Amino acid sequence: MGMESWPSKFIYVRCFLLLLLNVTHCFLLVQTQALGQVDECSALLQFKESFAINKSVSAYPLAYPKVAFWTLEGDQNRSNCCSWDGVECDEDSGHVVGLNLSSSCLYGSINSSNTLFRLVHLQRLDLSDNHFNFSEIPSRFGQDLSSLTYLNLSNSLFYGQIPSEISILSKLSTLDLSHNSWKLHPDIIPLKLTKGYMRSLVRNLTNIKQLHLSEVDIFSTVPDILVNASSLTSLQLRFCGLNGEFPIDIFHLPNLEVLDVYGNSNLTGYFPNFNRSNKLLKKLNVAFTNFSGMLPASIGNLHSLNLLDISYCNFSHYLPSSLGNLTQLNYLDMSGIFYDVPNNNSTGQLVSEYSLSWIASLTNLYSLSLGATKFRGKFPSFVANLTQLSFLNLGVNEITGQIPSWLMNLTQLTTLYLTGNNLSEAIPRSLFQLQNLEILDLSYNNLSGQVEFDQFSQPKKLKELYLSYNKLSLQIITNLSATIPQLEVLKLSSCNLIEFPEFLKYQSELRELQLSDNNIQGRIPKWVWNATRETLLTLGLYSNFLTGFDQNPINLPWQNLYSLDLRTNMLQGSLPIPPQSIRNYMVGSNNYSGEISPSFCNLNHLNILDLSNNSLSGMLPQCLGNSSALGILKLTNNSFHGGIPQMCPDENSLKMVDLSYNQLQGKIPRSMANCTQLEFLNLGNNQISDIFPSWLGALPALQFLSLRSNGFHGMIGKSATNHDFPKLCIIDLSDNGFSGVLPSNYLENWNSMKFVDENSRKVSKAKRKPAL
Ligand SMILES: *[C@@H]1O[C@H](CO)[C@@H](O)[C@H](O)[C@H]1NC(C)=O
Ligand SMILES: *[C@@H]1O[C@H](CO)[C@@H](O)[C@H](O)[C@H]1NC(C)=O
Ligand SMILES: *[C@@H]1O[C@H](CO)[C@@H](O)[C@H](O)[C@H]1NC(C)=O
Ligand SMILES: *[C@@H]1O[C@H](CO)[C@@H](O)[C@H](O)[C@H]1NC(C)=O
Ligand SMILES: *[C@@H]1O[C@H](CO)[C@@H](O)[C@H](O)[C@H]1NC(C)=O
Ligand SMILES: *[C@@H]1O[C@H](CO)[C@@H](O)[C@H](O)[C@H]1NC(C)=O
Ligand SMILES: *[C@@H]1O[C@H](CO)[C@@H](O)[C@H](O)[C@H]1NC(C)=O
Ligand SMILES: *[C@@H]1O[C@H](CO)[C@@H](O)[C@H](O)[C@H]1NC(C)=O
Ligand SMILES: *[C@@H]1O[C@H](CO)[C@@H](O)[C@H](O)[C@H]1NC(C)=O
Ligand SMILES: *[C@@H]1O[C@H](CO)[C@@H](O)[C@H](O)[C@H]1NC(C)=O
Ligand SMILES: *[C@@H]1O[C@H](CO)[C@@H](O)[C@H](O)[C@H]1NC(C)=O
Ligand SMILES: *[C@@H]1O[C@H](CO)[C@@H](O)[C@H](O)[C@H]1NC(C)=O
Repeated sequence: MGMESWPSKFIYVRCFLLLLLNVTHCFLLVQTQALGQVDECSALLQFKESFAINKSVSAYPLAYPKVAFWTLEGDQNRSNCCSWDGVECDEDSGHVVGLNLSSSCLYGSINSSNTLFRLVHLQRLDLSDNHFNFSEIPSRFGQDLSSLTYLNLSNSLFYGQIPSEISILSKLSTLDLSHNSWKLHPDIIPLKLTKGYMRSLVRNLTNIKQLHLSEVDIFSTVPDILVNASSLTSLQLRFCGLNGEFPIDIFHLPNLEVLDVYGNSNLTGYFPNFNRSNKLLKKLNVAFTNFSGMLPASIGNLHSLNLLDISYCNFSHYLPSSLGNLTQLNYLDMSGIFYDVPNNNSTGQLVSEYSLSWIASLTNLYSLSLGATKFRGKFPSFVANLTQLSFLNLGVNEITGQIPSWLMNLTQLTTLYLTGNNLSEAIPRSLFQLQNLEILDLSYNNLSGQVEFDQFSQPKKLKELYLSYNKLSLQIITNLSATIPQLEVLKLSSCNLIEFPEFLKYQSELRELQLSDNNIQGRIPKWVWNATRETLLTLGLYSNFLTGFDQNPINLPWQNLYSLDLRTNMLQGSLPIPPQSIRNYMVGSNNYSGEISPSFCNLNHLNILDLSNNSLSGMLPQCLGNSSALGILKLTNNSFHGGIPQMCPDENSLKMVDLSYNQLQGKIPRSMANCTQLEFLNLGNNQISDIFPSWLGALPALQFLSLRSNGFHGMIGKSATNHDFPKLCIIDLSDNGFSGVLPSNYLENWNSMKFVDENSRKVSKAKRKPAL
């Protein structure tokens, strides 16, 4: 917003005119103006002072602290707050009527004492893209700022109940409270609307044009009175937990340009017959909802439409060819919907080129997604007509044959996903001429032949490369290694590698590296990990012939690593210590020995710990079961002894525990009664001495229980509390010292179980691990 000092000049001019008429009046006027303004200016200054400036809290790349130069001292021009960056005053009254501090790096709380609420003449307020530290939205927004026509508090980490006073702001034409949820902490509850409050909001905001409440917990139906909001141009309600049926007449609002209800999986709805009244509609996004029914042929009447996203909905069967009339479309996503040809006689599940041929007319498309549509046949030729394409996703279909060499004609392509098809033969050399390519995913196909890896130095902007699980052999020319662009993601699993590619030495921006299922032998050289100490987040070296790390670091070198998969190698020595950030630590099926270091106790984010099939020994650290993040614990087939640590003493997310084939002793810790999410428990082949744990019957999710080959003894009684293992489908109690028979009421209740061998007082079941 402008830096001009219009208002003060106006006061001066008006004063001069008035002076000729009535001196006293003029003085009064000047004084009140000045006082009102001084108060507003000092309110603004105090507002500024209630926050810290923190550049990392605004996401917008050009964000800067607009308030940094606000000051009342210094020269005359600056002391007039109307000239401050982001401040707008009314030309006549001099009052502050606009405040735009969007992307201004503001960090701190805002409460009802904030001086912002002294700016009672505010009409436009934009505080988006700052960090208000999970403040609740003060009700004074509604009580004191009643002139507001524009209110934007999006992307600013507000939290809690939206105050009902917002609906007092009946002049609002824009209300944007979107995107206040915090991606990194999904457990933090974002903004909420009281049930039913959406209705009164809509009823009162009679001038509303833009209603944006994405990621606000609404959890109710879309109020039907929205169909009366005749001024509405933009309705954005992504991920609001909406349910019930979407009022179909909203589509006919005469000014509607944007309708976006993405990600409300319980929201049902239909498309109407689109007619002239929809001529303004530009963006229509109902992806990941339960919208269903036919796509009406009249959809071809939406001449202004530039975005259509109907992916992962339940629209069925028939695709009207009138879609080819939507020539303004830039963005089309129909992934996850299985279309077929009209009048198809068959099961109607396979999409062919023919049923999509109308796409060739959409020559303005820059983004096309047809992932997981059961498309079958050769690479669709209509793609060749779409010369503006920048993003193309044809992944997870049944496309066969070669990758066409004409793809090089799509010179704007930045992203190409062809993963999960049946593409065969060699990768055409011409593909490497796509100079704008940033992401290339050809994994999980049948591609074969030699790939000269240095060809990937041609697309200079390449950031992500996926070639895993084909039949390719990579030929890596050493002296060209330095010319490979700096990649962020590299996946070369099952590419017949026999050594680490040397170009990794120069890759210092890698976030993800997967080289699993190759034939790499020996130690991991330092040059492989040296350059990625800070950047690497996930590493997969599963199923190779690795024996260790060069210079055998006790601590893994990557500071931010969260997933490590070294399973099925020949690694030896003591377990490498992961960084604090680790979530998945998987080193099963190696030759590691020694004890579990107490350092593992400090890993607060650890979710998967797989140490199975090694030669580890010693006692299990008591802390192991304490971590509230731990979901999967696999320690099977080692030589651990001593007692089982307390599991689930507090809040927990444990789903699977496999401690079988060790020498563990003592009793099952009673704290396991708290493992309410536990599905799989294998304590078999240890030396546990306990009675039948009927109390485990209270675990609501337990499906698999094995106590086989231990020292369990006594009667298999039923617990007094009548808990009966409600989800159990596999139980193995064999090779213990139990006496008596299995109580019949268990057998009656175990509905999930297919087979019970009751003969020798042993209950067993073929070992079929439930999917995890
Ligand atoms: C409101 O915030 C200010 C700082 O901006 C703080 O000094 C004051 O104590 C807070 N008032 C309440 C009631 O929390
Ligand atoms: C800046 O904000 C980030 C959160 O985005 C926070 O982690 C960091 O501590 C803040 N820095 C300062 C100096 O307040
Ligand atoms: C005040 O602003 C005017 C117009 O923007 C400019 O010409 C003048 O030099 C400024 N005065 C000072 C002291 O900066
Ligand atoms: C506020 O300023 C930003 C640029 O900093 C601009 O993009 C945005 O449109 C402005 N908001 C309003 C309501 O004018
Ligand atoms: C609706 O707005 C009016 C002012 O226009 C206000 O008096 C009334 O309280 C508001 N209703 C609700 C439910 O907020
Ligand atoms: C959908 O409805 C089911 C059943 O009421 C509920 O469990 C689930 O959380 C809802 N999902 C969303 C995204 O609202
Ligand atoms: C496309 O629109 C034209 C005129 O607007 C119409 O004649 C034609 O039938 C439409 N095509 C389809 C496939 O609906
Ligand atoms: C159904 O379609 C298949 C090919 O998709 C064709 O071979 C078959 O003859 C058709 N059957 C009828 C009854 O039209
Ligand atoms: C697609 O391109 C081909 C070859 O350039 C052309 O013959 C055809 O008319 C185009 N189709 C459409 C619908 O534009
Ligand atoms: C690709 O471009 C070349 C030269 O520009 C042209 O000759 C060829 O016909 C194009 N191929 C297709 C399938 O459009
Ligand atoms: C490791 O990286 C540092 C700095 O990034 C570099 O100076 C050193 O030569 C590298 N060492 C090896 C063995 O690559
Ligand atoms: C179960 O968990 C609660 C806290 O969630 C704790 O107070 C209680 O002691 C635990 N029970 C056992 C047997 O550890």
